[in-house]
Amino acid sequence: MSDPFQNVDAAGEEFIAAFADSMDARQSDPQMESIVATYLSKLRFAEGSVTVEVGAGAGAVTRRIAAHAEPERVMAFEPSSGFVKVARDRAKQYANITFEVADGTALPLDDNSVCNLILHTVLTHVVDPAPLLKEARRVLKADGNLVVCDADFSKASLSNSPNDPLNACARAFVDEFVTDPHIVAKMRSLMIAADFEVTEFDVQSRTIADNDQMLPWVEETAKRMFDRGEIGQELFSGLVAEYKRRAIAGTLYGYQVFATAIAKPA
Ligand SMILES: C[S@@+](CC[C@H](N)C(=O)[O-])C[C@H]1O[C@@H](n2cnc3c(N)ncnc32)[C@H](O)[C@@H]1O
Repeated sequence: MSDPFQNVDAAGEEFIAAFADSMDARQSDPQMESIVATYLSKLRFAEGSVTVEVGAGAGAVTRRIAAHAEPERVMAFEPSSGFVKVARDRAKQYANITFEVADGTALPLDDNSVCNLILHTVLTHVVDPAPLLKEARRVLKADGNLVVCDADFSKASLSNSPNDPLNACARAFVDEFVTDPHIVAKMRSLMIAADFEVTEFDVQSRTIADNDQMLPWVEETAKRMFDRGEIGQELFSGLVAEYKRRAIAGTLYGYQVFATAIAKPA
């Protein structure tokens, strides 16, 4: 099955509601707040500047950008009209944000008009990142900054032991909800090929020890296995219960890696 983030509206309202909440929860994790705050601290938000987020989803990161950039403008673009509706609703208190439906390969923006452009956990969900990076290069000013922050899903794990059944769910999640789990390894060369000079590249690990942040990785994949008739109700419930048991017992060990690259037009 293909990654539902390639066409979120086709994935349906239940998916939109579930992942709007899940992305909000992910971003409120202190480790994710630190990753976003770190790259925002390296950008300039001069008076009259425009910052763009491409693939903004339900706006979890856009709201952090807007709070940091205020009062300067933040324009968010997202191909899913369902996510844009939720994003507008959740960002009502921010006077400096706009959300529009648009694909990252065709932004309704003039050449050389944008000061900062951010792609946060987007490129891992597209078949071909090159046209998005080309479009970012077109709209960015000569002294503008591109930020690409993405998960290295090839390293993600929920493993406490060899052949851990929860890790089978983590691997299934990457297979079913991610397009390119190795995007981080290719990030710098893709940016250079799109005529950027990469000025920073940093990797941060993230652990999930006592909360529900990776529970959707188990719930969503176990549900799909159940729906396909691969497992019964008992194992479906058991996998979810095992995640919750570990979270309470202090033995949960989810591991993720995020990378941030900052670049300027070459
Ligand atoms: C995992 S979500 C991340 C959302 C948001 N950046 C965040 O971190 O909360 C990935 C987003 O990429 C968007 N996306 C997928 N293909 C895209 C494309 N060609 N152009 C722009 N966005 C795209 C999806 O619609 C989805 O909202």
